[in-house]
Amino acid sequence: MHKSSTLAVPEHAGVPRHLAIIMDGNGRWATQRFLPRSAGHARGVQAVRRVVEACGRRGVRYLTLFAFSSENWRRPQEEVTLLMRLFVQTLQKEVDKLNEQGVRLRVVGDTSAFDSGLQDLIRKAEERTAQNDTLHLTIAANYGGRWDILQAMQRMLTEHPELCADPKGIDETALTPYLTMSFAPEPDLFIRTGGEQRISNFLIWQLAYTELYFTERYWPDISVRDIDAAFEWYRTRERRFGRTSAQLAGGD
Ligand code: IPE
Ligand code: IPE
Ligand code: MG
Repeated sequence: MHKSSTLAVPEHAGVPRHLAIIMDGNGRWATQRFLPRSAGHARGVQAVRRVVEACGRRGVRYLTLFAFSSENWRRPQEEVTLLMRLFVQTLQKEVDKLNEQGVRLRVVGDTSAFDSGLQDLIRKAEERTAQNDTLHLTIAANYGGRWDILQAMQRMLTEHPELCADPKGIDETALTPYLTMSFAPEPDLFIRTGGEQRISNFLIWQLAYTELYFTERYWPDISVRDIDAAFEWYRTRERRFGRTSAQLAGGD
């Protein structure tokens, strides 16, 4: 279990230990080229490959990618079906390579909504890579930050019914083990591509003290240089977690 960054200041290394990304702009990338949105999603998968490799090489330990939100079901049925198919194809194609690279793959989100074939593939990919420790790659699929907090609360109270009679006994340390990302430290850096400056119900609990970086670049166009630029910006941030600069300089 990792301590909350709001309690302890994590070491500020030049490279984020945990990078969380909202991969946005696939549709606009395609529309700009008079292509169907599906072409943007296909190119988006190639960008994932690029970014995973770059992060691995730069020593990022945890990379969490938002692939499908709990709100994305509201898209046209055709697009939802295509995204699911792409997810299946990508798992089938990429898991061997990820495994060779020492990547541990996890999927967080309400996967019970997926068809059983996809659930099976996810389980097998997670089992297959469970011993790896080089890069922890997490795909958030049918994920919503509010869902995460609610499911954590439900599981906590199921396991500890005595807390119902003692709600003041519920504190951060009681709840956080039940959040889906409890295996990872909180994200140090968040990147959203595609120009929007919002969180869109991503890791709302875990992003409390994360450095937020927004770029206009559409996800399919994201380059290793863009990632480096984000890291460069991250290096200039002073992470105070409520303290003053002087306190940090004094090491208090
Ligand atoms: C992000 O790109 C991918 C998913 C949400 C699955 P979008 O599909 O949201 O692309 P835009 O925002 O419409 O350009
Ligand atoms: C957020 O992108 C979700 C993913 C990237 C998976 P959206 O494109 O769905 O976000 P909103 O709805 O425009 O905020
Ligand atoms: Mg979008």
